[in-house]
Amino acid sequence: MSAKDVNPNGPKHVAIIMDGNGRWATQRNRPRLFGHQAGAKRVRQAVETCPSLGVKYLTMFAFSTENWKRTQSEVSGLMALFRRYIQREANYLHRLGTRVRFIGDREKLDKKLQALMDYLEKLTENNDVTHLTIALNYGARDEVTRATQRLAVEIAEKRLRPEQVNSEVLASFLDTYVLPDPDLVIRTSGEARISNFLLWQSAYAEYEFIDTHWPDFTPEVFASVVARFGGRDRRFGAVKA
Ligand code: FPP
Repeated sequence: MSAKDVNPNGPKHVAIIMDGNGRWATQRNRPRLFGHQAGAKRVRQAVETCPSLGVKYLTMFAFSTENWKRTQSEVSGLMALFRRYIQREANYLHRLGTRVRFIGDREKLDKKLQALMDYLEKLTENNDVTHLTIALNYGARDEVTRATQRLAVEIAEKRLRPEQVNSEVLASFLDTYVLPDPDLVIRTSGEARISNFLLWQSAYAEYEFIDTHWPDFTPEVFASVVARFGGRDRRFGAVKA
C-alpha cells in the first residue's frame, strides 16, 4: 500500500498494548526476554509502516507501573533492552523523521535510561513524519494522580481557580498534553483488557483486540486492523446526521 492509497477516514492516532511476548517465546521453548527482543523488532516495523497507513501518531505501551511486579531478572532484562533499543535505533528513527516522546513517570527509572530518553527526545524534537510515543513506567491512574497533584499546586498557589478547571485544563496536565486522543487502541494476544492504558484519552477510541502475539504483528496485520477501522461509523455520542 502506498501513501496515495491512504483512507482519509483511517485512524490518525493508533495506540498499541503490545501483549504476548512471553507466550510467544514460551511456545518456542525460549526465555521470555527472547520474546521481548522479537517484540522490539516489531516496534521498528510498526513505525516504518505508519506513513503508508496514514497514521501520524503511534503510542506504544512498553512498560506499565504494574510491570515492576515481574521477576527481578525480567525487569532488569527489559530495562537493558530499552537502553539498547534507544542506543541502536536513535539514528535510524531520526533518519525516518520520527519524533519520539516518552510518557510515564521517568523519575523511577534508572538514570542512564532517563538520560537516553532525554537524548532521543531532544535529537528528534524537530521531526514530524511520525510521532512515536513510548509509554515507559506508565499507568493511567498514576498519570491522573500526578496531574492532579500538579493542578492542586496551581490552585494552592492561586495561579488557577477551582472553577477554571474543565476537561481541557485537566488534559493539559496529563503526560499526553501535546498529543491528540487515540482513534484506535489495539491490544494483541487475545486479552480484552485495557490494563490502565490511556484511560482518559481513549474515552471515544475504537478498540481492536486481536489474537496475534505482539512478535507476530507484521505490517500486513497492522494494515488489516487499520482497514477495519476505516469501515466503522464513529459518532462521539451524537446521533448520525
Ligand atoms: C507484554 O508481553 C510486553 C511487555 C510488558 C513489554 C513490551 C516490550 C517490548 C515489545 C519490547 C520493546 C519495546 C520498545 C518500545 C523498545 P508479556 O510479557 O506480557 O507477554 P505474556 O502476556 O505472553 O506473558
